[in-house]
Amino acid sequence: RGDDLKERFIGTIDQGTTSTRFIIFDCTGVPIAKYQTEFRQIHENPGWHEQDPYELVESVFICIEEAMKTFLALGHSRSDVEAVGITSQRETTLVWDLETGEPLHNAITWTDTRTMNLVRELKEKPGAEDLVNICGLPLSTYPSSVTLRWMLDNLPDVKSAYDDGRAAFGTVDSWLIYNLNGGPQNKRHVTDVTNASRTMFMNLETLKYDDRLLKFFGIDPKKIHLPEILPSADREGFGEICEGPLDGVRITSCLGDQASALVGHCAFTPGMAKNTYGTGCFLLYNVGEKPVISKHGLLGTVGFQLGRDRKPVYALEGSVAVAGSGVSFLMNNLGFFRDSRKVSDLAATVPDNGGCIFVTAFSGLFAPYWIDDAKGTIWGITHHTQRGHIARATMEAACFQTKAILDAMEMDSGKKLTELAVDGGMSNSDICMQTQSDIIQIPIERPAMHETTALGAAIAAAFAIDVWKDFADLKYMNRANRATFNPKISTKASARMYKQWSKAVEMSRGWME
Ligand code: G3P
Repeated sequence: RGDDLKERFIGTIDQGTTSTRFIIFDCTGVPIAKYQTEFRQIHENPGWHEQDPYELVESVFICIEEAMKTFLALGHSRSDVEAVGITSQRETTLVWDLETGEPLHNAITWTDTRTMNLVRELKEKPGAEDLVNICGLPLSTYPSSVTLRWMLDNLPDVKSAYDDGRAAFGTVDSWLIYNLNGGPQNKRHVTDVTNASRTMFMNLETLKYDDRLLKFFGIDPKKIHLPEILPSADREGFGEICEGPLDGVRITSCLGDQASALVGHCAFTPGMAKNTYGTGCFLLYNVGEKPVISKHGLLGTVGFQLGRDRKPVYALEGSVAVAGSGVSFLMNNLGFFRDSRKVSDLAATVPDNGGCIFVTAFSGLFAPYWIDDAKGTIWGITHHTQRGHIARATMEAACFQTKAILDAMEMDSGKKLTELAVDGGMSNSDICMQTQSDIIQIPIERPAMHETTALGAAIAAAFAIDVWKDFADLKYMNRANRATFNPKISTKASARMYKQWSKAVEMSRGWME
């Protein structure tokens, strides 16, 4: 069986906040061919963050083209790719004309904070406090609902398409699937339960759009085309690729990137958790087949649903807005290094943070704090402070927020996590992962294979075409050569560090323009 699986291949589109990849895995989970590219990040005003919808689609086609060249050069053929899975950044909001296929504005990303004042107004509206009980998400600048409301109120093209019934709303997955299927020719307009659970329009129990949510945000579903919500693995619903080297290959999975990483870690059992350090940092904890609404600032979300005949599995999530993007800030804005992988070397030039705490609140602070008006704050600078201290403090910010999230999770679930599986760019830094273990005082497990997010969508896509029938078939997946980081400082020292962080968080508040 093992050899057979080495000869079967699944492609994954991994469209993240700052880069796009296409990776071809064999069905034992080994990446065989890969290509990655970046695209423009548009920051027109402070706090604004947009992307060009066409550049997102183009980046996907470039990656498919280039990865396929490598795959073919290895002696495989096009038809060896049996299916394609899609995983993408979540919440980023697009509106396009369903008839012409043209976007009506740039994509507004999940990190964008232009809706800060709108969120304050919405919080005053009757019913605001009940939303979380229906959809699992607290009202903030993060989910798509508030962004769509802002677009309708501020962008005349979006409003007139809405009034004419031509407008289609979608997150990045829907936009990509629409385009991969040929755009206006086929008009396939779909999403999956994990992405839909980030819009604030979906009822977490029924997995359907909820009129109470739509009404709260003033969205009339007769005027705007909302994508049909499908399971994360589906043989038919996501259609097929209509051009390029994979013309005719079926798309059989679709998941938000953090949900996909949960699958990539094979965290199928309640109580398992993973933390992905990408642009932001996202900790998902599998809570089983019933949704849990957090009382401590976390998000109730869908983890995955691997088929129409399978039950959805839910997660509690802690979302941190800035992790790798903090490292990019040191590189692009402060010129600390030319390659983000050097952050670890710079951090290694000093033994500790030298008393420096960096609250990287560039988009306010997300879970579990939800402080919209927090701004990035470096605390504890003296004549002793070096760039190495700031590099350490930048990585530590994600580690401290992870600790705050784990504390909240423990309060919500009544259970203490005994180890944490990690992935994503910043998890490659040994210094960062050691610090993480020190701060949360439990072991960190890091797989040797770095593409856990993409692997999740490949696993889901393979489920849809019956490569596997059961989670037990996947026990061996992504398990080889894991690195473990155990706590090396005392609980007391760890608590002292965290106390400083908590103080710095308080000082980052209240910076409203
Ligand atoms: O919720 C936003 C998240 O999906 C973005 O993930 O990996 O692009 O930071 P990433």
